[in-house]
Amino acid sequence: MNLDLIFSNKMKSFLLANESSPLSVTPNNFILPESKRPNLSEVKSLDSIPIIDLSYSSLEVIHKISKACEEFGFFQVVNHGVPEQVCHKMMKAITNLFELPSEERESLYSTDHTKSVRLFNYYLKVEGGEKVKCWSECFIHPCYAIDDIISLLPEKIRTQYIEAFNEYEEEIGLLGSRLLGLISVGLGLEEDCLLKKLGEQPRQRAQANFYPPCPDPELTMGLTEHTDLNALTVLLQSEVSGLQVNKDGKWISVPFIPNAFVINVADQIEVLSNGRYKSVLHRAVTNNLNQRLSMAMFFGPNPNMIIGPIQELIDEEHPPKYRNYRFSEFLREFFNHQGTRTMLKEAFEMPHDNK
Ligand code: OGA
Ligand code: NI
Repeated sequence: MNLDLIFSNKMKSFLLANESSPLSVTPNNFILPESKRPNLSEVKSLDSIPIIDLSYSSLEVIHKISKACEEFGFFQVVNHGVPEQVCHKMMKAITNLFELPSEERESLYSTDHTKSVRLFNYYLKVEGGEKVKCWSECFIHPCYAIDDIISLLPEKIRTQYIEAFNEYEEEIGLLGSRLLGLISVGLGLEEDCLLKKLGEQPRQRAQANFYPPCPDPELTMGLTEHTDLNALTVLLQSEVSGLQVNKDGKWISVPFIPNAFVINVADQIEVLSNGRYKSVLHRAVTNNLNQRLSMAMFFGPNPNMIIGPIQELIDEEHPPKYRNYRFSEFLREFFNHQGTRTMLKEAFEMPHDNK
């Protein structure tokens, strides 16, 4: 197979503005300033995030999840009950979506975040400079009213995508609720506590990420470092690794494990748990050999819900670290600071005295 050809097809939309660039060279608007580059040789591959077998006794599982949420904010789950076939079908549907010729994907491209279904690129705003694009394409849509999005999908993949997604969403919805229950109990709360905090019609979104091979993995980033703004993320990744998690200031990579999901605590659980569980920085790096895909399911509160540290987790020794806010306020903050702020939750911290 001709790698350049595949590359040129997949990256055509990226390259529209750079048509004169040779295809084996990374276009300038993807090249990060030196301080933001990944320094891949410094990434630790020995350490990794915990792997938790959900078929063990629930007490053991609760304990392990709780520890993982405190220490890493990330873990992988195996024996989770989601049929392999369902994941496989979902991955296939995403692959076909990103493999459509760019002319057929073009109508989905939008920088308007209020559009419910869209393809877009993340970027980093560099002080005094231009926006630097991430080496990825993302496809996002809500998980409810799925029938309304059908007509927005490219015709060629429509039926396959919706069929795969409906099955996937049902399974991941169950897994997500189960995990929220286990996390609640781990915090010493009622099993349905976190689920209730998300409210009726929680903001649940699916995001498929596509990372084509990149000629210069040292100069680019698939996704720049960020924390997730929702409550809990369930991620399915293809065979190629690329996700990295920050642990005590160092980056560790998350290996691909067959039939596993990567789970992470996102900002709203950090706030609800009053900082006990961590929404940690993570990023996706690129590689020059293989394309990589992932499917993230973001479980978040209904935008009208008030979020703040849960009463039972506040006492004299643990004063509230965050103020209460409406989730829609948090979302507004996110879209106002897109490309600049990586630790959004800091905007909602209680003022500290600088002792
Ligand atoms: C995300 C994310 C990581 C990955 O979509 O928020 O962090 O490995 N994805 O694709
Ligand atoms: Ni993320």
